[in-house]
Amino acid sequence: MVSMNNNVNSSANHVVTFAHFKGGTGKTTSCLNIAGFLAKYGAKVLVIDLDPQANLTQSLGVDVETLGKSMYDVMAHKKNIKDIVISTKIPQLDLAPATPYLMHTTLKKYESKKDALILKTAIKNIKDDYQFTLIDLPPSNGHFIVNGVMASDSVIVVLDTSVYALNGLETFRTAFDSYCDKIGIDLNIAMALVTKCKKHFNPFKKNIGKEIGKSTKSILGTSVFLVPYSDHVYESQIKQIPISHHKPGSDIGAAYMRIAEEIVSLRN
Ligand SMILES: Nc1ncnc2c1ncn2[C@@H]1O[C@H](COP(=O)(O)OP(=O)(O)O)[C@@H](O)[C@H]1O
Ligand SMILES: [Mg+2]
Repeated sequence: MVSMNNNVNSSANHVVTFAHFKGGTGKTTSCLNIAGFLAKYGAKVLVIDLDPQANLTQSLGVDVETLGKSMYDVMAHKKNIKDIVISTKIPQLDLAPATPYLMHTTLKKYESKKDALILKTAIKNIKDDYQFTLIDLPPSNGHFIVNGVMASDSVIVVLDTSVYALNGLETFRTAFDSYCDKIGIDLNIAMALVTKCKKHFNPFKKNIGKEIGKSTKSILGTSVFLVPYSDHVYESQIKQIPISHHKPGSDIGAAYMRIAEEIVSLRN
């Protein structure tokens, strides 16, 4: 990963959000594993868990039951993000954790620009500490999705190969385009990922991953990366370490490393 080593010294913090309205598409898995590769190849990385399910936090071996502070405190204006960030067992990788209590963040009606920019404002406090900040979003909490997208330099849309994967993509783009327009921010959907792609063709003789990839490209107009289905995802969840540090040379490791390289190139 030569390009990453060459570019890692730049101090700008590139903020990337993983988004889709549907659950289970691979947002958390992608956020964790891409962060793992970025950290492994020398970048200082922060992952922000903005999902009250706290899967990202748990996938790094953090016990949410005993956490005294979390992204709740940041979203509720109670603490500076610097005060809730913890280090992880992965070198170069820090975590702004979530707990289920994050659900208690007041739900707002995004009339005011300020409500949509809580996270963007919070991240300014750590902009010199990291080269990459990766945000993991829940599928269906408007407050967090709006804040995550508004805080980002690049949005990565994460789909899987299910029949309903493409639903809502056009709406996502249109809704956010007009919202961003209103508050004067550019929506930059940098790429899309199609996860859990199976090598074997289904009974309809179609490579579903490729088909969904093609449709996604035409809807969003971005580059699309396919991530293979892999049992290493389950193993790495059990071991509570990213694939970058568990099975980096696997098919899925190679896919996430390639995507991490692409994210490095976005920053330049
Ligand atoms: N490439 C993959 N291969 C196999 N299983 C995967 C893959 N990506 C995700 N999964 C599994 O799919 C489920 C949903 O993934 P997750 O990343 O939690 O989705 P989301 O964050 O979008 O809800 C998890 O149980 C995860 O282990
Ligand atoms: Mg998730």
